Amino acid sequence: MSKKEETEFIFFCNGRKIVDLHIDPSMTLLSYLRRKLRLTGSKLGCGEGGCGACTVMVSSYDKLTTNITHVAVNACLTTICQMYLTSVTTVEGIGSIKDGLHPVQERIAKAHGSQCGFCTPGIVMSMYTLLRNNDRPCMPDIEDAFQGNLCRCTGYRPILEGYRTFTKESEINGIGCKTNCKTTCCQNKNGSKKVCANGKIQSCKSNSGINGISTTLFQPSEFTSYDSTKDIMFPQELILMIENEKPMPVRFTCNDVTWLRPVNLQQMLDMRKRFPDAKIVAGNTEVGVEIQQRKMIYPVTVSVAHVTELNIIELYDEGVRIGASVTLSRIDTFLRDTIKKTPDYKCKSFVAIVDMLHWFAGQQIRNVAVVGGNIITGSPISDLNPIFMAAGSTLEFADTEGVRRMVSITNDFFTGYRKNSMKANETLISITVPFTKQTEYFKAFKQAHRRDDDIAIVNAAFRVDFDENTIRDCTLAFGGMAPTTKLAEETVKLMIGRVWDQALFDDVTAHLANEMSIPPGAPGGMVEYRQSLVISFFFKFYVFVRMDNKTKTPSKEESSASIPLKRGSVESTQMFQEVSDDRSPIDLVGRPVVHLSAYQQATGEAVFVDDIVPFQNELFMAIVFSQKAHAIIKSVDATAALAIRGVHAYVDHNDVPGINVIGNPVKDEELFATSNVTSIGQYIGGIVAEDRDMAQRAAKLVKVEYQELEPIISIEDAIAKNSFIEPTRILTKGSVLDGFKYSDQVVESEIKVGEQEHFYMETQSCIAIPTIEDDAMDIITSSQTLKSVQAAVADVIGVQYHKVRARAKRVGGAFGGKETGNIPPAAAAAVAAKTCKRPVRCVLDRNDDMASTGTRHAFLARYKVGFTNDGKIQALKIDMYMNCGHSQDLSLSVMERAMFHVQNVYYIPNVEAHGYCCRTNIPSNTAFRGFGSPQSTLAVENWISDIALACGISQNKVREINMLQVGQSTYFNQKVEDLQLLKRCWDECLDNSEYKNRQSQVEEYNRSKRWRKRGIAALPIMYGVGYSDRFLNQAGALVIIYTDGSVLLTHGGVEMGQGLYTKMIQVASRTLGIPASRIHTNETSTATVPNTSPTSASVGSDLNGMAVKIACETLCKRLEPYKKQESNKTWNEWVKAAYFDRVNLSATGFYKTPDIGFDWQTKSGNPSYYFTYGVAVSEVEIDCLTGDHVVLRTDIVMDVGDSINPAIDIGQIEGAFVQGYGLYTLEEHRWSPTGQLLTKGPGFYKLPSFTDIPVTFNVSLLDGVPHEKVVCSSKAIGEPPLLLAGSVFFAIKDAIRAARRDAGKGEIFMLDSPATAERIRMACADRITEKFPPASPGTFTPFFIRS
Ligand SMILES: Cc1cc2nc3c(=O)[nH]c(=O)nc-3n(C[C@H](O)[C@H](O)[C@H](O)COP(=O)(O)OP(=O)(O)OC[C@H]3O[C@@H](n4cnc5c(N)ncnc54)[C@H](O)[C@@H]3O)c2cc1C
Ligand code: FES
Ligand code: FES
Repeated sequence: MSKKEETEFIFFCNGRKIVDLHIDPSMTLLSYLRRKLRLTGSKLGCGEGGCGACTVMVSSYDKLTTNITHVAVNACLTTICQMYLTSVTTVEGIGSIKDGLHPVQERIAKAHGSQCGFCTPGIVMSMYTLLRNNDRPCMPDIEDAFQGNLCRCTGYRPILEGYRTFTKESEINGIGCKTNCKTTCCQNKNGSKKVCANGKIQSCKSNSGINGISTTLFQPSEFTSYDSTKDIMFPQELILMIENEKPMPVRFTCNDVTWLRPVNLQQMLDMRKRFPDAKIVAGNTEVGVEIQQRKMIYPVTVSVAHVTELNIIELYDEGVRIGASVTLSRIDTFLRDTIKKTPDYKCKSFVAIVDMLHWFAGQQIRNVAVVGGNIITGSPISDLNPIFMAAGSTLEFADTEGVRRMVSITNDFFTGYRKNSMKANETLISITVPFTKQTEYFKAFKQAHRRDDDIAIVNAAFRVDFDENTIRDCTLAFGGMAPTTKLAEETVKLMIGRVWDQALFDDVTAHLANEMSIPPGAPGGMVEYRQSLVISFFFKFYVFVRMDNKTKTPSKEESSASIPLKRGSVESTQMFQEVSDDRSPIDLVGRPVVHLSAYQQATGEAVFVDDIVPFQNELFMAIVFSQKAHAIIKSVDATAALAIRGVHAYVDHNDVPGINVIGNPVKDEELFATSNVTSIGQYIGGIVAEDRDMAQRAAKLVKVEYQELEPIISIEDAIAKNSFIEPTRILTKGSVLDGFKYSDQVVESEIKVGEQEHFYMETQSCIAIPTIEDDAMDIITSSQTLKSVQAAVADVIGVQYHKVRARAKRVGGAFGGKETGNIPPAAAAAVAAKTCKRPVRCVLDRNDDMASTGTRHAFLARYKVGFTNDGKIQALKIDMYMNCGHSQDLSLSVMERAMFHVQNVYYIPNVEAHGYCCRTNIPSNTAFRGFGSPQSTLAVENWISDIALACGISQNKVREINMLQVGQSTYFNQKVEDLQLLKRCWDECLDNSEYKNRQSQVEEYNRSKRWRKRGIAALPIMYGVGYSDRFLNQAGALVIIYTDGSVLLTHGGVEMGQGLYTKMIQVASRTLGIPASRIHTNETSTATVPNTSPTSASVGSDLNGMAVKIACETLCKRLEPYKKQESNKTWNEWVKAAYFDRVNLSATGFYKTPDIGFDWQTKSGNPSYYFTYGVAVSEVEIDCLTGDHVVLRTDIVMDVGDSINPAIDIGQIEGAFVQGYGLYTLEEHRWSPTGQLLTKGPGFYKLPSFTDIPVTFNVSLLDGVPHEKVVCSSKAIGEPPLLLAGSVFFAIKDAIRAARRDAGKGEIFMLDSPATAERIRMACADRITEKFPPASPGTFTPFFIRS
């Protein structure tokens, strides 16, 4: 290719023209923004389009229509070349701290919608793009805009509430419960009973004075109004450039990679002829994932996105013709418009397409992904191909000579997994979808793990055409049941000429079960569920047709099968105690102060580790991970990697100058494996190179030869093979033998709780900066335990601790995953930095992070519980097993906490609890919010539920009669001091939620619906706060007053989104009596406050807060004489006077929790300092045929003492609850039998998204409960509310029970956690599921196993 053909690359970014003569086509837009333009607001959260952290707005000008379009896209999947002659707006372009925040940035910050802030820029840009297209959206528009965004911290509610202020509804009604109510709550519609979470409240007007309760976490009146005319304009210069652009192909080449963009069909065909091996791309969402994740290289790429002929979408006599490069968003808009203007009967398949597109990915993907990309990818779970097949669509291809070919999209078109009959020299031009006929019915279905933005487990599309009463023609297409989308051709044969009646249905299901059967070990797994879905979907269609056709009205029993499970938009109330009017306005304790970094986070100015400007000479390290779960390393060969220009070194155990051993608290892991590996993801070595891409590509070239050994993956496997980490923990009380003797009934059962991925949005990241002169190392890390990083680094590089400084300014979420999880990358980077004598950055990609780090422990509880006929517990014997992975890490401590929670809030006279730590060949499992208690609490509530069913009494009655009473102790003999608060939480939550009424309503609802059931459950929790290891209960602070009166506050706590820095400044401000604006915290560092405990176990504020208070009090004492002497003077003057008087203006504070620590030798002591309490009531609705569910409402009452910051505490409650909801209902890791994690990345591992949270979500903080033992009379909050999400699990169980009752099945049944759609469906056992009994274990190799 000649240089002449090269195009000058131009695009605009935030209004600035960028011209790049050396554009690298292999670079993504995100890399370009972050590395070349140093715009680091857009984040890399996953690199596969699944999290939205990289969202930017792309604006284009169409010279034919003169329209400007604005769309949100994922910068991580967009190549920079795709941006040619577009205008990109990033979070930095819309507002800044200096120039003023954009209302979208301001509102997410002020509404407390930003905690760690890593997701915030992406969410801001999704909202901003929505407003650019629709400046008065409604709530469903907002929820749709966020389908492609994830947040792991907030629980989404505050983001939605903050942005509700942009809606039409908020203008009309006031903002939810937040404004203008005078005497009764504005949400109290139609005379219904109160809606507010607090039953006492008549008005939710802020500062109403009623019981001193407020519902106002933010003041919308303080928001800057949104004026769309102030938004950044599309560059005029760019319009002119596009107007003047000749219809010529575009070409960019760099480093032997070429990117071509033809603009018409002839150019495209010529290019395809010239470069027969070129890769065609359009939206690049599929190809982008291949390049990012699988490191595929395409030397020549032809982008067909701008080929005019491929961009036509038009109606003609027989249907709609859609050009192959029409984006899914454009199809959606076009078909919606068509449906409005065209007779209904013609558009039945169009309605199915539009409905399906709602569930297809998120908007960022739909805005760029094209129909041709979906068809040609030929994924067996494509959401569109079943519809196209069922509708009888036709594809049009053109070969390089321009010869056209029409092909019906039938079973013959897809020839194998992701293969089709398109010829090598052909390109897809268009697809034609015919109109439906008056006599036709059409419907499509999809079931995924998560409702929004998830790929299908099974999908289907059905069409039937009637000739009078008999079937003239029919197509049944299924996805997810074979290597390709598949038509059930055999079944259809038997349908022709038949009447649509029960006999037909029975015959069809029998044949479908056969035609769509899959073997037990089929790829994808879940075979019984998938086969059941096939029949369930057809049943829904069968009923739908009968309902639509008045002559065939379905029975009442049937009718609920076809009602879609919909949810409304979120409504919420948050209630907390107001501070009294006489409180000084500068005393911020108790007020809903905004997270101090929220503005920086919302503008993209907050700096995370990977946002730090590269140091001079900096290198990047990519880890070489073990690819085998259990093996002997036979050889390692890095020759090919080292041959790449720009690769500096391969480092492994041979380069470790200190000891090659890490592990906390027990040193039982090698940093770099030497002779064998015991888990996939273990570090074998690392490639150090000039940049990230180079290092990652080179790391893939390191050849490791293994001799494989048999791995142990699951708990059951470990039990069978007696593979445990010692010691086994045992705790007992009384005599279980006696207890069982005095019991009327005994139930023995078990429950398994699956593991949970932390999915902190910022992956493990660090930079190691060597100081050659001192042989020292500076580590900037995303760790929540700086001391452990410092110690591990010192040990591996062979220096004393004082030579290593570990520091963190902010961490993008941690949840326990960065308590030990940052040690391996930090230690490895330090070894590399020492070897290369240069700074080394190591930031794990999402996939690598997930594959190499541990999770919450999978847990199995086998229990035997004895009780009287009236439900009183007599004895509990429980064996708990945890899957710990290949090393100890924190597993023993996690098990210990699980054991301390094995009674939850109940009094049990006789207990015997055993805790076994299973050693397996998966990454070492570790701390995770709740630290073992979420698993054991669920087990407790499970046997409580069993008791209620066995005795035939209500679940709540069993809870109430067994609840600990004031004066009682735990089974490990710790006195529980304020048990009256547990009762208050219980009573208030049942009252606020109107439990009794709603339970009756649920029963009523269930009587009238066979295939839809509701369930309701209340769940109390009691959480012991503090570390049971005594030494960890300590903290330090250093407070410095400078001579201008400003204060620098440092302490041992790490800010990871939980608002610790904010709370600590509130404490310091109160103690020093100065405004918070005079106090600053710059970072946490082992060089400032040494020997810190992890920021974990919910005690960050408790421990550090006391240390801060003590340090501030010391300073106050020193300043006291000056205040006394000249009380009329100011703080600054007192500080100055003290300075000139040679007073020390810096002070340390040190705090150790009294009376805490459990001794496992003597089985005595207090594992926690105090207890905190909470209760939740949740109501759900399930679709018994698919296992889908919606959480209709959750009410929470939580004891937090006197809240230091109600906004932060409520944010923690909601965030923890939603994370717990993920644990108990959705999030699931799946492993291959050889130990490969199959669920890496957000594509396969699903966290709750915006529309998974309870539709009504009320949180109330218990008022008037100061807790004197802790700073500012507060209580800890980070972990306890997570356990409350168990209420959803038991509400689901309640609903399933109703379904089983209708099916004549037993009401006591086993349901493991998470209660996924698969488990819900299969537990609703009925005549459909009975057709698919599970194959006997051992007779096949399963596709996946659960650990
Ligand atoms: C986060 C995420 C979520 C997703 N969710 C869903 C989902 O819910 N449902 C679903 O079905 N899919 C989903 N997908 C898959 C993907 O988005 C679709 O397959 C999409 O339609 C691909 O379009 P594209 O323009 O991005 O294709 P590209 O990546 O550009 O190309 C895909 C393939 O099609 C070929 N191709 C493109 N155009 C032509 C043409 N005209 N002629 C011949 N070959 C062509 C390319 O060579 C390539 O092999 C998801 C993907 C991601 C990344
Ligand atoms: S980083 Fe792009 S979607 Fe996650
Ligand atoms: S604030 Fe959303 S991920 Fe942390």
